[in-house]
Amino acid sequence: MQSFIQFNPTRLWFGVGQIKQLQQELGNTGKRVLLVYGGGSIRRNGVYDAVMKQLLDRQAIVVEMSGVEPNPRLTTVKKGIELCRVNQIDLILAVGGGSVIDCAKAISIGVYYDGDVWDIITRKAEPQEALPLGTVLTIAATGSEMNNISVITNWDRNEKRGWSSPLAYPAFSILDPAYTTTVPLDQTVYGIVDMMSHVLEQYFHRTEHTPMMDRFMEAVLLTVMEAAPKLLSNLEDIEHRATIMYAGTTAFNGLLSCGTDGGDWASHQIEHGLSAVYDIPHGGGLAIVFPNWMMHCAEDDPSRMKKLAISVFGIDATGKTDHEVALEGIQALRQFWDSLGAPSQLGYYGIDDQRIEELVHKSFMKSTIGQYKVMTRDTVRDILIRSL
Ligand code: NZQ
Ligand code: ZN
Repeated sequence: MQSFIQFNPTRLWFGVGQIKQLQQELGNTGKRVLLVYGGGSIRRNGVYDAVMKQLLDRQAIVVEMSGVEPNPRLTTVKKGIELCRVNQIDLILAVGGGSVIDCAKAISIGVYYDGDVWDIITRKAEPQEALPLGTVLTIAATGSEMNNISVITNWDRNEKRGWSSPLAYPAFSILDPAYTTTVPLDQTVYGIVDMMSHVLEQYFHRTEHTPMMDRFMEAVLLTVMEAAPKLLSNLEDIEHRATIMYAGTTAFNGLLSCGTDGGDWASHQIEHGLSAVYDIPHGGGLAIVFPNWMMHCAEDDPSRMKKLAISVFGIDATGKTDHEVALEGIQALRQFWDSLGAPSQLGYYGIDDQRIEELVHKSFMKSTIGQYKVMTRDTVRDILIRSL
């Protein structure tokens, strides 16, 4: 195990009815709040009304910014920064999924930066200050509600970039699983694939003697795999929604990487390249790319895939080579995602090999990608071709 610091400043209020804690979080009355949300799901399912009631009970002055896109865009971030400045906002409240929260994170630091906020997203500038941010999560997927990461797309440049800062943790996040019962089937599946990918990408580390972390990760995967089919057979089941919601937060709030080298996020980089060019849902892209990344890596070093196959998918290794066990594990993961209805080929989104070089290029928004296996342009191309 490596040395580490475990720190996460986000206060998490979890459970049905926890929205009432918003009043406590608002503190003094009369706060000026920027309410950030997406394309309107919160207006249709009653979450907007529940949030507004709490805000108005504390005499908050509310400025609204709706229309944050899935795969949120730089132009929307800039609109939010302007609204904060003009209205002298004290608190940003993001109500939605990863896209809304990521957009709100970029707004919160962009307000205090005189230059173009893209400088911070591309890591050319370090944020110095941020407006306080709170979130009300409505879809289980990214973990953005309890981490310091944000992913923003510059559509003019077809670039989707992740950035992070110690200033980007939400001060508080309210997680009511009842708010997620209206998430449609496809988005529920994308969220499940995304949280599993987060665990799996952290699982592919090369640090030795990490039994605690490995078993934490295996536990999250096994729990999600047990709950997911039950949830999909009844999307309104609060207990399974709660399990999946907390799994999504735990999958990517820093806990699972304590003491490891952090794992290998190449599949996420490749998916971000795909979304930057084709604007596809993040979880859908991962369902296609991740097993192909595993297939590619198993050829050189199947050790962690073998461990996963045995510990999570119950593969019997007797009399088989490591490579054979690894392949059976990858096949089991594919079958599980297939059984949920996740896509398995880029053709599902109408993507063929026409822009493959551009996709390779867009995957390299960082100078190096991959750690379990460092990727080259050729290896990324190979994974994309396997994914067609
Ligand atoms: O926009 P609305 O109308 O709210 O609809 C959304 C959206 O269409 C809908 N939805 C959300 N809650 C709902 C609901 N529909 C009905 N009922 C509800 N309760 O779901 C759709 C997808 O929402 P979105 O926020 O885009 O999903 P997700 O949470 O998966 O976020 C994806 C974004 O997060 C980034 C992804 O790249 C992508 O841009 N990521 C952020 C990470 C982070 N900050 O740590 C890590 C991830 O790996 C990921 O890259
Ligand atoms: Zn993800």
